[in-house]
Amino acid sequence: MRSASGLNFANKGLIFANNQYCLSGIFVLSNFKTKKMEITNNTILITGGSSGIGLQFATQLINLGNTVIITGRNQAKLDEIKKQLPKVHIFKSDVSDPLAIIELFKKVTMQFSTLNILINNAGEMRNLNLLDTSITVENVNREIAINLSGPVWMVQQFLPHLLKQKTAAIVNVTSALAYVPFALSPVYSATKSGLHAYTQGLRIRLKKTSIKVFELLAPLTNTPLGDKFAGDFDSKMMMEPDKVVAIAIKGLMKDKFEILPGMSIMLKLISRIAPKFILKQMGKVAEKSWANEKL
Ligand SMILES: NC(=O)c1ccc[n+]([C@@H]2O[C@H](COP(=O)([O-])OP(=O)(O)OC[C@H]3O[C@@H](n4cnc5c(N)ncnc54)[C@H](OP(=O)(O)O)[C@@H]3O)[C@@H](O)[C@H]2O)c1
Repeated sequence: MRSASGLNFANKGLIFANNQYCLSGIFVLSNFKTKKMEITNNTILITGGSSGIGLQFATQLINLGNTVIITGRNQAKLDEIKKQLPKVHIFKSDVSDPLAIIELFKKVTMQFSTLNILINNAGEMRNLNLLDTSITVENVNREIAINLSGPVWMVQQFLPHLLKQKTAAIVNVTSALAYVPFALSPVYSATKSGLHAYTQGLRIRLKKTSIKVFELLAPLTNTPLGDKFAGDFDSKMMMEPDKVVAIAIKGLMKDKFEILPGMSIMLKLISRIAPKFILKQMGKVAEKSWANEKL
């Protein structure tokens, strides 16, 4: 006959074993959730990969052993990139067109069922003078369709596919201008601020899924996007796109969800500590540019 204390001991043993089992289960689960992104052997779609930051992402990610697909509106530009980077896959597609996004989704997922990372990079920045009354209502918000609606539509379209992947990520490319607007590009600044807010919301929404949500808040970078602003900024302030992207990839590997290369971190800090000051300084840059204009 077993003694009461013997039973107690056996029970305690079972409870201990159970706890051990649960703990190891939790450990395995948390290990799965906290596992850092591996930036190799992924299938990655980059919007706007034919130039600047997107092209650098494509080049560096291919070199790290990933399958990379890029989009852009200009077929000739895409063909040229294919010659330079034979491993890249190209698709002509406009992110500001929801029907084109549906088409892209069908083609890409049919050919690349392992697609697990989406980089929303395509963007346009105009020097937009709001006092120019010849700008049409359709035209004034073009950047909203490309820089804000585009990524939101892309996420909505690709989300069901990404949710099925064991590990997945969405990377939205915004700007340091998400923190402080630049009056030469008021609509652009609003789109980056909007995409920043959307990305933060999306990250919370997808917290319990296998999709990690990153944001690259890029600083002033030496790409064709900034050509219209030559002279407005000291070129020494510009970062080269290969550096920006190298920092971004390091950030992805470390699960750094908000990546702030170069001056972006400074702009974030100043916008928190002295918001009026930095708004005024950025305003002065725009005013200097307008000084010779007849309004
Ligand atoms: N350069 C900077 O100083 C800076 C700073 C902060 C943030 N960013 C952001 O970084 C991202 C990349 O900019 P970048 O400087 O690398 O510019 P970029 O060199 O001008 O490249 C833009 C890319 O986007 C594509 N694109 C533009 N509109 C598109 C559309 N509607 N649909 C599909 N593709 C489109 C372009 O190709 P097609 O013209 O052939 O379509 C090109 O491949 C943008 O989101 C930008 O806002 C840039």
